[in-house]
Parts: sequence; C-alpha cells; structure tokens
Amino acid sequence: MTVQSAVRIAVLAPQVADQIAAGEVVERPASVVKELVENALDAGARAIRVEIEDGGKSLIRVSDDGEGMARPDAELALSRHATSKIREAADLIGVGTFGFRGEALPAIASVSRFELETSPDGATGTRLRVVGGKREGVEDAVRRRGTTVTVRGLFFNMPARRKFLRAQATETRAVAEAVTLLALTRPETAFTVSSDDRTLIDVRPAADAIERVAALWGGALADTLLPIARREGPLEVRGFAQRPAQAKPTGRKGYVFVRGRPIRDPFILRAGEAGYRSTLAPDDRPSLILFLDLPGDAVDVNVHPSKLEVRFRDKFFVEKVVEEAVREALGPLAAAAPLGVGGQGLGIGGSWAGSGADLSAGAPQDLFGSGPLTPDPRSLAPLLQVFDTYIIFQSDSGVAIVDQHSAHERVLYERVMHQLTGDGAPAQRLLLPLTLEFSGAELEAVEAHRELLRRVGFEAEAFSGRSVVVHTAPNPHPRFDAARCLQELVADLAGGRFSALANRLERFAATFACRAAIKAGQRLEVEEMRELVLRLLSATLPAHDVHGRPTVVQLPRGELERRFGRS
Ligand SMILES: Nc1ncnc2c1ncn2[C@@H]1O[C@H](COP(=O)(O)OP(=O)(O)OP(=O)(O)O)[C@@H](O)[C@H]1O
Ligand SMILES: [Mg+2]
Repeated sequence: MTVQSAVRIAVLAPQVADQIAAGEVVERPASVVKELVENALDAGARAIRVEIEDGGKSLIRVSDDGEGMARPDAELALSRHATSKIREAADLIGVGTFGFRGEALPAIASVSRFELETSPDGATGTRLRVVGGKREGVEDAVRRRGTTVTVRGLFFNMPARRKFLRAQATETRAVAEAVTLLALTRPETAFTVSSDDRTLIDVRPAADAIERVAALWGGALADTLLPIARREGPLEVRGFAQRPAQAKPTGRKGYVFVRGRPIRDPFILRAGEAGYRSTLAPDDRPSLILFLDLPGDAVDVNVHPSKLEVRFRDKFFVEKVVEEAVREALGPLAAAAPLGVGGQGLGIGGSWAGSGADLSAGAPQDLFGSGPLTPDPRSLAPLLQVFDTYIIFQSDSGVAIVDQHSAHERVLYERVMHQLTGDGAPAQRLLLPLTLEFSGAELEAVEAHRELLRRVGFEAEAFSGRSVVVHTAPNPHPRFDAARCLQELVADLAGGRFSALANRLERFAATFACRAAIKAGQRLEVEEMRELVLRLLSATLPAHDVHGRPTVVQLPRGELERRFGRS
C-alpha cells in the first residue's frame, strides 16, 4: 500500500477565482452593461450614458453622475466580495439595491482591459487600470462627480468565450434590451445608449412609467396599454396590459419586475395572459409590463447567478393576484378599441356618462337577462341605433359604439358560465312543446350535451326517429326564437365550431351565447338598448366578445376635439 503524501488540493489564486466567477456573471457584453448600469443606479445616478463599439466586443463604457468613490473605496471595489451594499447575510432580506454580492467589478476586470474613473466630489479623482485581473496602476484623475467604467477587449484572455459571442447586431440588440429593462424600472433617470456613434436609446427623465414606455417604444404602443393597479394582502401589482383588440401574434413586450428588479418569469407572464380569458383571438399575444411589489421577506432575490430569477414564498398567490390584476385592468370600457388615428388615450377607467346618477330609482328591466341592474337604466345618456345593428351612446371618455349582437353575446356568455357551474337557468315551460328534426350527428350532440342543455334551459327528449320534443326553453330576450336557437346550437355542437376553446364548458357557453344573442338587423326600443348597454357595462370583460372581437369601439373625445380644432 502506498501512502499518498503529495498535497493535491491548492487554493486558487484570486485572479483565477475571479475568472471562474466571471464565467457566471459575465456572459456577453449585455451582461457587463447590465452590471455597470445597475451599479450606476445603486450610486444614485440621475443620468447614465452607455457607449459600445462593435456590439460591445471592442468597447463598453458606462458613465454616471452618481455618488462616485473616494480612492480607498475605488481600490476595494475591485476585490471580490467587496461591497458597500450589505454587511451581513441578514441584510439580504429585503435588499433594496441591485447589487449585493461584490462580484461584478472584479469579475468584469478579470476578463477585460478595465478602467475605472471616479470622483466623489468633482475635486479629487482616481483612475484605476486592471488588465485581465492584474492591477496596472492607480493615478489621479480630473472629472466631475460620478463614475465611468471602460471595458475593452472583453474576453481577450479567454479565447473560447470570445468565440461564443454572436454577431455584432445581435450583441448590440442585447445591450439595448438590457438598458431598456433598467430604464423601465427608473423613469426618473435619463439614459442614452450609443453604438458606434449611432444613438439607440435617448430618454429624458420621465414623470411616470407610461411616459417612459412612450419614450422607449413610441406613443402608438403606449396608447394601446391599460394601467394595472391592484393590491391584495402584501402584494401590489402595477403596470400595463395591452387592449385585447390591439394584441398581435408577434412582437409583444412581456416584462416582469419584482421589487424593481427585472426578472425572467414565464409563469407570471402566463398568469397575466390568463387574465385576458376569452377576449383574445387565438394567436394574439398581448404586451404585458408587470411591476410586482411585496415585502422583502416574501421573496428571495439571491437564487440566480445573474440575478435574473427570484423565488417567491407563495408563487401560487402571486400568480393568482397577477391574473386578477390584469382582468381588472381590462374590465372598464377603456379596454374598448379606439377609433381614429391614435395619439389620444381613452382616459382611464372610462365608464358611461351619468353613472353617478341616482342608483336606486326605477325598477330594473328584465329584457336582456335576469337579476337586478346596479345602475338605473335611465342614467344612461341618449342612445341611438344605426343600421339596426349598432348602438351609439355617450361615455365618459368619448362616443361609444356597441355592436348589439357581440355585446349581448358577451353578456350571455358570462351569465351562462355562471349557470353551467351553478344551478342552471330559469326555464319557461312551453305551452306547445316544440318538435324538431335532427341529423344523426346532431342527435348524438343533443344526447352528449343533455345536462348542459338542461342547465341553460332546454329540456328535450328523443321522440321518434330523428325528432326531439322540447318542453322548456330559456328566455334571454323578448324576441328569442327558441326553435331556431336550439337548431343552430345543436348544429354548432355537432360541427365542432368553437373547438379552439379548450374547455368544454366555455365552448358550450360560447356557442349558446352566440346563437341565443339578439341578432344584427333587429330594431330595438330605447329601453332595450339601454338595458343591453348597462348589462354589458356590468360584465366582467365588457369590451370583447367570446371570439376576441370588440363589442365596443370608442371615438375618444380628444380625437373629436382634435378634428374640430378645439384642442
Ligand atoms: N458606478 C459606481 N458608482 C459608485 N460606486 C460604485 C459604482 N460601481 C461600483 N461601486 C462600488 O463598488 C462596489 C462593488 O461593485 P460590484 O458591482 O462589484 O458589487 P456590488 O454592486 O456591491 O454587488 P454585485 O456583485 O451584486 O453587483 C459597490 O458595492 C459600490 O460600493
Ligand atoms: Mg454591482
């Protein structure tokens, strides 16, 4: 037996350890930019400038007007685990700065030609140079208050990594994206990004998040967004959800921030999308920008090497509140698609004119559904029907135009979903039972959906051959044609229409709503219009029908004023 005497374990030289750590923190130019901009924000900068050359491969420079560093701090900043942001592990709970590891600067300096210039007061200044992790010199520097970090030749000493860098355009895009994310979290800070003398981002201090969104992506996108604001227990969700009618299959913006940090969390985005329920056309993906705020001890930010993920103590709760927050944002009529050339928001929380009127007066009508109406139908300003199809009325934020069929479809859909999961609808026993003829496939559909049909009010039994006798029918409106509705409904069920809706109940409800709703081309009395509009406005998601098409379009008042030269 031989005794192994040679020691095989050695502690790595700091330079090597830094390079290994850099492997986790620094993946590409965009990650360097992210770390440096976060440091600038942590230092209280009001203006941050980012310059890159060749996608950041040859040069990255981040300058700020933050608090800067005195020389001893500047020298320390380049040592691993040197940080001014926490002192002990307990400080990690609820840490309010982007940084907390004391890793970024030494990691970046170990894989580049690195230069730090900083001044805490605009009088004294320091310039520090490091090449591949080796200190090359410290000298005085003249500069105003703040810090500039210049990173040249990223991965010059790690050829394998350097080879992994992508095309210049790809790296440039990633840099712009990294700054965009941080710019969204800090509207009050100015940002510029230039790439080989081209300006990619130039945003001045903004008053709020929507102004920042408009500065980054243009007012046209900002105008499609509805504000989200919901607090539940310890969680506050703010941000923006795109109007369903303006969502597109590609190019959506989907961002999640937790306690001011940008994170990647597809589950939270999906929860947000769930809030749209049945208002989206099948392939459309809405833009969603979600800012989540919750106490520090409800979330762990220290679970990912580049801090791109967090862990929630109660993820299920967070997802539930996000879904509700988005649904609530889509609720008001402001979610309706605007007519006209944009440039004018619809005003937030727009509802109907005169909604503050006396809510107790007048007996609720019962023309378009059962149950009391909260607002008095008479509180709605004059209504006009055109083409026997559209109802025009005045809303808080403009002129609203409702499609009577889509609107009634939405109202019925929500009511029927209720009935299908509850006791069912009140049905009317027919004095003269109806006898209807069906095809073989249709008879099967009647059989397969017997219970659901009963719940919406149709009690039918096979008679002989292909005929079915119908004893009871629902009565969703005075002009309801029970025989026609049931025939169309059964044909749809047999033909697999609405099969895009995954859930069988939703599919049935959508089909019923579509067939039972008042049709286009039907002249309505003023009282009927009034009730329909009020029922629509009290629906959970009034602005869209079950196919993702709008039920309401609005001509914003501001647009009218613009056209008539009043503004
Ligand atoms: N732009 C800056 N202005 C002022 N001080 C800075 C700046 N950048 C870095 N510092 C100081 O240097 C320290 C080290 O920075 P570094 O990014 O390495 O670590 P950190 O930000 O503390 O943590 P993390 O590794 O999580 O980013 C910071 O704690 C801060 O005190
Ligand atoms: Mg940092």
